[in-house]
Amino acid sequence: MWPKSRIMIIAQISDTHLAFDAPDAAQRLRDFERAIADINALDPAPDVIVHTGDIVHNGRQDEYAVAAAILAKARAPVYVLAGNKDDRANLRAAFSERGYLAPDSEFIDYAIDDFPVRLVVLDTLKPGSNKGAFGPLRVKRLHDLVNAESTKPIAVFTHHPPFEVLVGPDRLHFETPETMSRLREALQQSGRVVAVFSGHVHRATAGHVGNIPATVVTCIATPLRRGDYPAHMKTRPVYYIHRFDPACGFVTETRIVGDEPPAASP
Ligand SMILES: [Fe+2]
Repeated sequence: MWPKSRIMIIAQISDTHLAFDAPDAAQRLRDFERAIADINALDPAPDVIVHTGDIVHNGRQDEYAVAAAILAKARAPVYVLAGNKDDRANLRAAFSERGYLAPDSEFIDYAIDDFPVRLVVLDTLKPGSNKGAFGPLRVKRLHDLVNAESTKPIAVFTHHPPFEVLVGPDRLHFETPETMSRLREALQQSGRVVAVFSGHVHRATAGHVGNIPATVVTCIATPLRRGDYPAHMKTRPVYYIHRFDPACGFVTETRIVGDEPPAASP
């Protein structure tokens, strides 16, 4: 039983883009490891960690093996979703152990009921495209996930943000405005979704889905981060801590991982 006065804490990381073939591969690996170490040191500890996709850059099994090993070091339970750079089959195989990913499902979408806020994780991936998709079948699956429980508030996690992003070159991160509208309508239907948390854009931004506040966390991979950061922050990963208080809803804090340790002497 969850004590009424206890605040639920979610750490959200995104877009680690782990790769072996990129010139900055070592930095991406270091950023990912340092983010997990930082989350492990938080006091109070988070109840759960959600990775909002683009876990790896090329969807390869060997990339997922490294990503899974890093996430296995997290003290809090970790949930993952698929971004446009992810491969559903390889992602599912790498993270099948804990049993929350249905092995035979076309999409990587699910609900977690262990907390005072339900976590509903959606699949907006369209293989071969950087843009998001959300067809009628996924709308039905979203309604089924939402309607499986009717008392708790819901936080929804997507890779592609379901709102127009007013900073940066791309306002729309779905294939068409109609696709995004379909998802936005579905999210508002129950009246129980209290927040939408996304990634993909590689910069921090925010918007709304009707009355629902929606945010984007920047990428963990510091070489891929967009927007201006001062020099001393260039190699410090950034992630979000979402705290849920039943009286106030979610309050989001930006967490900046500490200074990079000095390189070991040769
Ligand atoms: Fe992405």
